[in-house]
Amino acid sequence: MSKIIVAPSVLGADFGNLQRDVELLNRSEAEWIHIDVMDGVFVPNISFGFPLLHAISKHSKKVNDVHLMIVQPEKYFQQFRDAGAHNITIHYEAVTHLDSAIHQIKKTGARAGVALNPSTPVSVLREIIHLLDLVLIMSVNPGFGGQKFIPYSTRKVREAKELILTSGSSARIEVDGGVGLNNAEELANAGADILVAGNAVFGSADPLKTISDLANVCV
Ligand code: DX5
Ligand code: ZN
Repeated sequence: MSKIIVAPSVLGADFGNLQRDVELLNRSEAEWIHIDVMDGVFVPNISFGFPLLHAISKHSKKVNDVHLMIVQPEKYFQQFRDAGAHNITIHYEAVTHLDSAIHQIKKTGARAGVALNPSTPVSVLREIIHLLDLVLIMSVNPGFGGQKFIPYSTRKVREAKELILTSGSSARIEVDGGVGLNNAEELANAGADILVAGNAVFGSADPLKTISDLANVCV
């Protein structure tokens, strides 16, 4: 049984006490910190950019997992890497030359991921799955924390797992949006390796325990 990686999303943190919240994550069983960058163009919300990523990296002892919900992300890969990104995930829907963009991410030394919106089928990854370190299944429409999990996402996780197994890819599967203790086990059983959780962690009475419970769901 391989353990689930929990990636708490800082979008759910208290930005006025960011150092405190990152230090809480450092003490937790979370292996990754999920960092959502939104540009107000690809998604109907603006979150933050390089200065905040720099500030998080300064305190983070975890893997900085950066999810770019921006158009033309390829303009900024090196800057995100320099600001402390270990993983860089871009959206299939935001990039025209995906093969090239994945190679550009890898050239910076970061792990490369591709995220799929809920309406995008897993099959679009067939030709590039062998290049990927991460497949991110969006289980809400991207843009906001605290939304309701879209149930058909679990089937997409299963399909991604099948694609990975049949292609011999070493990509791992990450699920993002509306994830919590109520659906973590089902997602882990479907093949998820990494669970992103914002509201479920930072909205809980005991974030450290919630992270631990998520990390130890039975597969
Ligand atoms: C949504 C973001 C998510 C978000 C998850 O666009 O990509 O990472 O922070 O938040 P919760 O877990 O609250 O749905
Ligand atoms: Zn995200």
